[in-house]
Amino acid sequence: MIKWLQETYSAKVYTFTADLGQEFADPTRFKEIEEKAYKLGAVKHYTVDLKERFVKDYVFPAIKANGLYQGIYPLSTAVGRPLIAIEAIKIAKKEGISVVAHGCTGKGNDQIRINITANAYAPEIEVLQPLIEWNMGRDEEVKYAERHGIPVNKYKKYSIDENLFGRSAECDILEHPEIEPPEDSREWTIAPEKAPNEPEYITINFEEGVPVGLNGEKMSSIDLLRTLHDLGCKHGVGRIEHMEDRAIGLKSRETYEVPAALMLIKAHKDLEKYVCTKQENSFKNMVDQRWSELAYEGLWVDPLKDALDAFINEINKKVTGSVKVKLFKGSAEVVARESPYGIYDMNLATYETASTFNQNLSYGFIPLFGLQSKMGFLIKKKIKKNKK
Ligand code: ARG
Repeated sequence: MIKWLQETYSAKVYTFTADLGQEFADPTRFKEIEEKAYKLGAVKHYTVDLKERFVKDYVFPAIKANGLYQGIYPLSTAVGRPLIAIEAIKIAKKEGISVVAHGCTGKGNDQIRINITANAYAPEIEVLQPLIEWNMGRDEEVKYAERHGIPVNKYKKYSIDENLFGRSAECDILEHPEIEPPEDSREWTIAPEKAPNEPEYITINFEEGVPVGLNGEKMSSIDLLRTLHDLGCKHGVGRIEHMEDRAIGLKSRETYEVPAALMLIKAHKDLEKYVCTKQENSFKNMVDQRWSELAYEGLWVDPLKDALDAFINEINKKVTGSVKVKLFKGSAEVVARESPYGIYDMNLATYETASTFNQNLSYGFIPLFGLQSKMGFLIKKKIKKNKK
């Protein structure tokens, strides 16, 4: 892109890499990217550490919303995009840049997420997608790079996106939904069948819906995510394969590795359900689903999201406590929870004779509770009879 932008528009090119915790085992990668940018003629390169903001303003809200697109995908890529766009716009404004270009294709969700956010934050700045403009396939792009002496290092057959919250892989054999994703498309997690034969128990501590510690020990948000990541990878937790409906209407086969995200959302949802009433839980499910769709479709700036966030935050004020999770051969199963705000009373619920629950009330409650349904059922029979 750097070369192509200079060639095609005689543009001065500034480059920006967002650090969202991707490739976190290999920090030298950012230096390599910077050096490569300068070698290709970039005027100035920015690497911005956005990890802290990413976790606080994007990952935690997603956990509070139990964010799972179509009930499966924890939105790990989706929630990173608005932040990247906002930071790119910030740099553009600072440097007096009039066009922001990014490497999304015209087929995915990421273009929608980046463009909508960028356009909302700076309507005066144009957003350009060279991959749409130049109309080359991935193979032709590699040839273009080779022709211009651009080293294509670590060329991978899959298209990968990574951050602290998850990893996604697309393309190549993964485009065949009838074939199981091959082992080489997974890089973080061990295959569940090769995971340890002994289960491991962890306890995740939450305060007001936010994970704050592990096994009773307070941890910084980034350390906590990384520790959960390591534990999950070791036990083969968080492999997802998904036949997904993209925002632009395409169906696509997606694969993810989301160990920390999956554990956190499962644990959070369990604790939230424990401290909320039946009414709250039912409504929260709808709100969560709507929230996930907005986040997935890149409508992060829509005022509806602010309204949903307000509700989600209100509910999460009491989501404090701890959740015990069992990690074993690919599964992360909630096995116990504790909270000072749990709406559970053993004295009421127990089937032992000591229960203080007055069962005689049922004789009055059930006829009233079922009144309309019973009447509807009888009328249904009447209609059938009259039709004969
Ligand atoms: N389908 C996912 C999403 O829309 C992941 C896309 C990430 N891109 C990639 N090249 N792997 O959020």
